This record gives sequence, C-alpha cells and structure tokens, in this order.
Amino acid sequence: MKAAVLHNVGDERLEVRDDITTTPVGAGKVRIRIKATGVCHSDLSAMNGTIPVAVPAVLGHEGAGEVIEVGPGVTSLAEGDHVVVCWSPQCGACHDCVNGQPQLCMAYMINAFSDAHFQLGGNPMFGMAGAGTFAEELILLEQGAVRIDKDVPYDVASLLGCGVMTGVGAAINAARVEPGSSVVVFGCGGVGVSVIQGARIAGAATIVAVDMVDRKLEWAKQFGATHAVKPEDLAGVKQELTGGAGFDFGFEVVGRSETIKAAYDATRRGGTTVVVGVGRAEDMVSFSAFDLFYNEKNLRGTYYGSDNIRRDFPRLLDLWRGGRLDLEGMITRRLGLDDVNDAFASMAAGEVVRQVITFD
Ligand code: APR
Ligand code: ZN
Ligand code: ZN
Repeated sequence: MKAAVLHNVGDERLEVRDDITTTPVGAGKVRIRIKATGVCHSDLSAMNGTIPVAVPAVLGHEGAGEVIEVGPGVTSLAEGDHVVVCWSPQCGACHDCVNGQPQLCMAYMINAFSDAHFQLGGNPMFGMAGAGTFAEELILLEQGAVRIDKDVPYDVASLLGCGVMTGVGAAINAARVEPGSSVVVFGCGGVGVSVIQGARIAGAATIVAVDMVDRKLEWAKQFGATHAVKPEDLAGVKQELTGGAGFDFGFEVVGRSETIKAAYDATRRGGTTVVVGVGRAEDMVSFSAFDLFYNEKNLRGTYYGSDNIRRDFPRLLDLWRGGRLDLEGMITRRLGLDDVNDAFASMAAGEVVRQVITFD
C-alpha cells in the first residue's frame, strides 16, 4: 500500500512509496483503512527533530477511517466501525487516568516506540506516535480508535484527532476560560484557531488573535477572534482593551520560547498562561524570580488539550452538530497523499489553516 515515509530526522521531504506493508493485526488491535488525515505542524516538528520519532517512520497522527479487520480479544470495535485515530490512548486504570488527568496516561506510549506496525522492505517501521495516518491502512491498539457516528464526514472527523482536540481542549479543559473573560492567542494555524473557537464556545468576551501573516488574522476573525493584530501591534491593543493590565488568559500556539514569554507578559496579574505549542527540548525560557512571585500568574502546559478522549471527542462532535464548532471551515485545502510535501510548503508559507489529505 501507499504511505509517506520519513527516512531520517532532518530530511526536508517525505518519500511517498507504494510498497509499504503492515504487520498482521495482532491481539487487541484493529486494522483501519484511513479515509482522511489532517496535516499538523507536529508532523513538520517530527521531521526537524523537535518531536521524537523512531525512523524510518510513517508520519501523520491526525486521521479518521474505517475498521476493516479486528484482532483477537478486541471487544470495543467491530468491522465497519468509523473511528477517529487518537495518538495518545488512555487505559482508564492507571494513576493518571483515575486521578482525572487521563491525557497524561503513558500506558501505551512505550508501545509506540517498541511495537512497529509497518514494514519497509521486510524491516519493521514505526508510525508517528504509534499512529502513522499518512498511509492507506494502519494497525492501531483498540484503545487508540474512538468510534464515531457514521454520518460524520471523514475529513471533518480527522481534525478531531489532534489539532481541534488540542486547541479547544486548551481553552475549555486546561485554561477553563470563563464567560465574559479576555483572551489573547499567539499563533493562528489549525491549533490556534481551535483555541479561538474554544474560547468563543466558553463565552470569552474579547479574543485577540496574534500572528504575523495577514491572511491568518482574517481567518482568526472568521473563527471568533474579536480583534486580530500583528505582534508589533499587540501592546496598543492590550492598552486599549485592558488598560494595560493584560488579558485574563494567554495562549501560546507556536512552540517557541519567545512567544511563550510574550503570552506570559500579555497575561494579567493573577491570570492564566497556557503553553499549547510544542517547542524544542533545548529552547529555554527564562522568568524573573520576583515576577513569578509578585504577579501570581498561573503558567501551565497542556498535553493533547488535557483531554479525556471518550468524553471529549463526542462533545466536540455535539458542538459541531449544533453549529458552534466550525470544522468544515478549517479545511482550507484538500490534497492527495502524493502532494504531502507540498502541504508542508503551504503550511510554512502561512497559506492554510488546515490541509486534509483524502484517500479514495
Ligand atoms: N508570533 C505570532 N505568530 C507566529 C509567530 C510569532 N512569533 N511565529 C509563528 N507564528 C504563527 C504562524 O504564522 C502560523 O500561523 O503560528 C502559526 C502556526 O501555525 P501552523 O504552522 O499551522 O501550526 P499548528 O498546526 O497550528 O500547530 C501549532 O501547536 O500542536 C502544536 O506542534 C504544534 O507547535 C505546533 C503548534
Ligand atoms: Zn492510564
Ligand atoms: Zn498534531
């Protein structure tokens, strides 16, 4: 079958091949025919070494498809089910799962780096984060496949698997944005506009989008930003809207130390700053010791939108059905797997919100 392979960390292109195979399904696993997969910045981050990946690897971690084969012992899924792929499955039984932070469950993470589900020339090959949705088919632990209603289009469903869950969850689960509050969001890609939508759904009164690309700022307004500015114009808007005090909630959705610091500085005393972007391990951020004490800001990260997948994927779909979460509008470009490298170029050029690769 066809799949897009990263041979070495640092490569600027994926190789689309048509001779990739999968392992047999195996106990507790399912085979999924991928129908649609979103292209997320984290795929690019795997290529450039920001996010660890064991190479060679099939990239892609945001997808949806149909279960076409079920391994022994699988109880929650059947052939023909439509599912969203989740790159960080939750066991429901570990310390993190039972303590209300299932997003931190690591029960299956070791699997993603030890149990290769693809094969290239007879050698084992991993899928990104245990997934690998830039492929016509993949093998997944049943815990990583969340069943959805069959009337949900695959392209819409695919977005839930990473960007939308991460962004909306950052606003609702991690920050707990309050009705009437003020919000600033740095970075307006697919994840950033999902934060904006989450803040709108939560009832924020003011949502300021920050990006250096004009078209991104227009899109941000389409998804609920009340104001949209270039980084250099933020100080003026902060003064005008908050009297200089800063915003109740600041979100960093780029993945860089500079924007983390900028989001923290734009947050008011006692407010909450959430780091959504995935930065490099060696990219250090520094804070003044006195500032941390004196300004009493809450600074936190969010992993996968601090999600509980079996609660949140259905909730996101309910919001979408109710017309409160715009998923179709986020898909600004559709393409085939052969054009995957072109997708990265468009993303880097700031020409798109989300691109979805579809398979016939
Ligand atoms: N200030 C403001 N915006 C910036 C800055 C900056 N200094 N630098 C980059 N941006 C903007 C880009 O112009 C782009 O619109 O950030 C946006 C990033 O969008 P995408 O590349 O589409 O990335 P996305 O898929 O949304 O992911 C964003 O979240 O999940 C993580 O790994 C992911 O770190 C990545 C982040
Ligand atoms: Zn767990
Ligand atoms: Zn992602």
